[in-house]
Amino acid sequence: MANVICVDGPAASGKSTVSKAVAEKLGYLYVDSGALYRIMTWLALEAGVDTGKPESIADFARDVDVAFVVKGCRVAYEVGGVEPGDRIRTPEINRHVSPVSAVPEVRERVTGWLRDMRRLGDLIVEGRDIGSVVYPDSPWRFYLDADPEERARRRLVEDVAKGFADQGAKEQVKASLLNRDKIDSSRKAAPLVVPPGATRIDTTAMTIADVVDFIVSAVQP
Ligand code: CDP
Ligand code: CDP
Repeated sequence: MANVICVDGPAASGKSTVSKAVAEKLGYLYVDSGALYRIMTWLALEAGVDTGKPESIADFARDVDVAFVVKGCRVAYEVGGVEPGDRIRTPEINRHVSPVSAVPEVRERVTGWLRDMRRLGDLIVEGRDIGSVVYPDSPWRFYLDADPEERARRRLVEDVAKGFADQGAKEQVKASLLNRDKIDSSRKAAPLVVPPGATRIDTTAMTIADVVDFIVSAVQP
């Protein structure tokens, strides 16, 4: 059975940056679970589904089709033969993704996909419920965290680079991020928690390389 490293944590704690680098160092495949929830949200909005109605989202989620393609050290997602790219990272998707991902039928679908991916090889999977629900038996489960102020600073830099926000928007970025944290942590289905037995890493004052080295050393002592 292939190995799975689980990385959970709130928005902008460093999960994706760190997990990509660990995947490259260890020759694992990087899996971005949040992107699957974002794709669900994007497709639902495109189809005009009312994201305020869980039953409409549940119906829609059953028929969503995503293709999984190994590209280098990552599992890429294609919809209609193309990767959605930054279309799934807009402020509009940020606003709708947490309510969509709180719908149990959406979670069931995505969890099924994530478990199937183990057939592709050794994985490092990052998200909110990977060590608690998707792969709770993995011996390698990490929870990344950082102060909200630092997380907002990191996300603002990214949003400015993508043209989604201007320099002065830090408070807005922080509010959006904290709002998602709140919905993600308080939902009934697979809330964001520190999985029992997971290693919590406070990355506030750590560089990306520090966090990568910590995880690599824990997995390959
Ligand atoms: O990159 P960022 O941390 O901002 O978010 P993401 O990992 O792309 O996840 C987007 C949203 O998807 C989260 O705010 C959660 O609502 C949801 N999500 C989830 O419910 N479970 C996961 N395993 C991953 C993401
Ligand atoms: O995936 P998640 O939302 O948890 O965070 P990310 O997208 O990996 O990280 C958000 C931003 O913070 C990226 O631009 C990283 O380069 C940066 N970062 C950092 O400056 N220091 C860290 N220790 C981790 C991430």
